[in-house]
Amino acid sequence: MHDYIIETERLILRPLKIDDAEAVYQWVSDERVAKYMVYNTYTSLEAVAEWLAMLQKPDEEYHFGFVRKEDGLLIGSGSIGPDSDRSGFWGFGYNLRYDCWGNGFATEATKAMMKFANEHFDVVKFSSSHVEQNKASGHVMEKCGLHFAKYGQFQKLDGSNKMRSMEYEGEIKNF
Ligand SMILES: CC(C)(COP(=O)(O)OP(=O)(O)OC[C@H]1O[C@@H](n2cnc3c(N)ncnc32)[C@H](O)[C@@H]1OP(=O)(O)O)[C@@H](O)C(=O)NCCC(=O)NCCS
Repeated sequence: MHDYIIETERLILRPLKIDDAEAVYQWVSDERVAKYMVYNTYTSLEAVAEWLAMLQKPDEEYHFGFVRKEDGLLIGSGSIGPDSDRSGFWGFGYNLRYDCWGNGFATEATKAMMKFANEHFDVVKFSSSHVEQNKASGHVMEKCGLHFAKYGQFQKLDGSNKMRSMEYEGEIKNF
């Protein structure tokens, strides 16, 4: 849990709260959104509330809800934090409700999270990865200044859905 709030042109990035459960359920219960994420599609509001409760505990990972300024709707979430596999690198991830895809929101939010990591923790090296077929996510990573480095292996948190992944990295000089 943290209390950082970041403002971008169209979004407010803020900590996720337990009462966000219904809004979060909207996308984590959507198979189109969950397909290439490490979590399995959620089937109950209680399970989402449990996940949000877990986020309230101290963590090295900074989770943010993405709120659209225009109407105050929580449209997605993402996180950024130290990459446990690579010293000096911070990794990130994101997911958005389906009806908000294709508007540049993921790129806008991710650039803001990277800038946050740089300003508060002097981070300049970033890494991320996506399932090979998830081209939109690769585009987000490229637009955030990362480049493809190598293929890897994706699997869900429960070990299911093993698929080839594409790993990206980048050293960012200008935020
Ligand atoms: C991945 C995701 C976050 C992207 O969000 P978004 O707000 O639509 O992303 P952006 O609009 O910032 O950028 C997406 C880019 O991919 C491109 N794109 C979208 N679908 C694509 C596809 N099927 N093939 C190739 N490129 C695609 C878009 O045109 C855009 O690039 P452009 O700005 O150069 O046109 C969103 O699709 C999502 O929530 N997916 C489900 C969760 C997920 O997979 N998260 C990532 C796990 S690694």
